[in-house]
Amino acid sequence: MNAIDLLIQDHEKLKKLLEQISSTTERAAKTRTDVLAQIEAEVLSHTRIEEDIFYPAYRDASDKEGIKMFHEAVEEHRAVSELVLPDLLKTQPDTMQFSGRIKVLKELLEHHIEEEESEMFPHAREVLKDDELNDLGKEMEAMKKTIKADIKK
Ligand SMILES: [Fe+2]
Ligand SMILES: [Fe+2]
Repeated sequence: MNAIDLLIQDHEKLKKLLEQISSTTERAAKTRTDVLAQIEAEVLSHTRIEEDIFYPAYRDASDKEGIKMFHEAVEEHRAVSELVLPDLLKTQPDTMQFSGRIKVLKELLEHHIEEEESEMFPHAREVLKDDELNDLGKEMEAMKKTIKADIKK
């Protein structure tokens, strides 16, 4: 699959999970825990394939503007994976604090996805050739399978 199509497919899945968890209340602690575990697995595998495969290829093919976008995107990943998500995983799901943290996670991720889809990906389509995007897609698909298998262990 084309790299960008694969990443957009991941985004769609993640956005659905975020909608799902946002529609829960403090009474749905079990659902919250289950959906959060799915979100964590999606976010971790998605950011890994982007940072290890897609972003470096994009950065290397890119101009100054693209390199700026690359660095910004990596920092947004870091905010999610190292701050917001770990905090959320330590938060009791039946509390208002959890609800607040979910809202922040959702906003951050939606903003990040929006920037990738409206700025980085259209630019990547210009600077990377179709067969390069297809090769990157294959590589990412394989890596995602390995990561998901590791998470299940
Ligand atoms: Fe990203
Ligand atoms: Fe992404």
